[in-house]
Amino acid sequence: MLPRRKFLRKSLLAAGAAACAAPMRFAASAQAGSADSRIEVLLDEPLGTISPNIYGHFAEHLGGVIYDGVWVGENSPVANIQGIRKSLVDEMRKIKAPVVRYPGGCFADSYNWRDGVGPVDKRPRRTNFWSDTETKAAPENHKFESNRFGTNEFIRFCRLIGGQPYLAANLRSLPAEEFYRWVEYCNSPAGSTSLAELRAASGSPQPFAVRFWGVGNESWGCGGSFTPQEYAVEFRRFTTWLPHYGMDLSLVASGPSSGELSWTRGFFEELLRKGTGQLDSVYGLSLHHYAWNLSRGGTTDWEKGKGSALEFAPVDWYELLREGQRMKDLVEGHWYVMGEFDEQHRVKLVVDEWGPWYRAGSEATPGNLLEQIPTLRDAVFSAMTLDIFNRHPEKVAMANCAQLINCLNSLYLAHEDKFCVTPVGHVFALYAAHQGGESLRTIFSAPAVHYDRDGKTAMFWGLQGSASLKGKELQLTVVNPHVSEARATSVAVRGGRISAASAAILTSSDIHAHNTFAEPHSLEPQTRALTADKSGLTVVFPPASVTRLSLELG
Ligand code: AHR
Repeated sequence: MLPRRKFLRKSLLAAGAAACAAPMRFAASAQAGSADSRIEVLLDEPLGTISPNIYGHFAEHLGGVIYDGVWVGENSPVANIQGIRKSLVDEMRKIKAPVVRYPGGCFADSYNWRDGVGPVDKRPRRTNFWSDTETKAAPENHKFESNRFGTNEFIRFCRLIGGQPYLAANLRSLPAEEFYRWVEYCNSPAGSTSLAELRAASGSPQPFAVRFWGVGNESWGCGGSFTPQEYAVEFRRFTTWLPHYGMDLSLVASGPSSGELSWTRGFFEELLRKGTGQLDSVYGLSLHHYAWNLSRGGTTDWEKGKGSALEFAPVDWYELLREGQRMKDLVEGHWYVMGEFDEQHRVKLVVDEWGPWYRAGSEATPGNLLEQIPTLRDAVFSAMTLDIFNRHPEKVAMANCAQLINCLNSLYLAHEDKFCVTPVGHVFALYAAHQGGESLRTIFSAPAVHYDRDGKTAMFWGLQGSASLKGKELQLTVVNPHVSEARATSVAVRGGRISAASAAILTSSDIHAHNTFAEPHSLEPQTRALTADKSGLTVVFPPASVTRLSLELG
């Protein structure tokens, strides 16, 4: 591994070279022959509509996510809307946040929703699921749950940002009745039930109309250590009856961790022992994949395998991307197994936890459990992951980045009155334009990246991305993962003509670039106008970059 100081010097030299090249970076060029790469968007090969919910979020009662991140309290000096951090609401509106999963995660299977409703001063204090994992530096309200933020406050948050709620029910430690009572609390018509009146007493007479419900979380682990067969039995029991109040409920079954195909197969085998009609009760199968093992095959130990969020060499950059690239095979592999039981593919994948997971040590606020500061590497990782989802629109119905604020792959960092958008947040802003678009088959041809992996040459793809169309507006997002080489690329739209073009790009000469409370604008997208000619565009994608090309077809 290259020592950090030496690497920084190398990056700076590369930065100098990149800076000289900057003026020509986005110039559309007539010399398409000088390009070493090619992108072809095929207008007549639509893949399906990109569900906006692929751009979803996840907020758990964990560390600083809810308390300090989302919730600051009505009487806080921090700007808030009825207790919810205003800067967060403002940013989430900009990215058209479609859906938020809550209250966990592992927390969900130890949570009683009743603790978080009713008069605030009567809500009980409980031991948080994560309390034993918290460090001494952690604030008390991270260890002991005040229940100040509960269902009503969460729904308020969703309404403020314009997104839908996705609630995860407790399958491990509450009876099935409590699941349908929570549905009743949220969805029963005004004045119809005692729980509707309790909801009204907290200021919400009208139903919350919650459509998305998770039935447990990671039921193979913190959610109950079930076998897939045992979980399938529980799933049937929990979902055999739920009140609908005239609306469709979309129930998400707890699915596999990464490549555990045996969970997917075991779950469906057991579920369908009661007949294929059981498929009617499943909207989605959840899939969780964290990129955490940067040991290059050295270990499978959960602690030892992790790397640093901020201090890394190029090999660690590529290694993280390799771990993230597994998402493509995971989506395709689980989908294939699901098809063995569900030929029509009525059940979709819900990737409700994804992102990189580093070892502790890069918290923006010391004491915040699982908080890490995302860098340009995480932006490239996130863009690459969103592109994978975009390219599988018929398979992935929802995805939720873990987690929204003050946690793993966060879009935002906040502490008291300090707030910043991370590079991951900027990627979500760039990619929001894909939501609801028609995904188009796109061919990327570029020289592969070659890098040294413990004395052996390893390869990674040279350019990847995704394209989507809404009317005459085409969005093409492109990732160049190479830490030091730009890719001059000819971009062509087969079956169409580009009449206007612009680019927004997120990059830096330092692959470690990130935003902090002190320097919140270090890494932000830059936009440029482009000029196309008859054959299309030639665009230079800088090293270590995420680009969105917005093309108007004439
Ligand atoms: O996102 C942090 C934790 O990771 C979640 O609570 C759990 O579901 C997963 O293991």
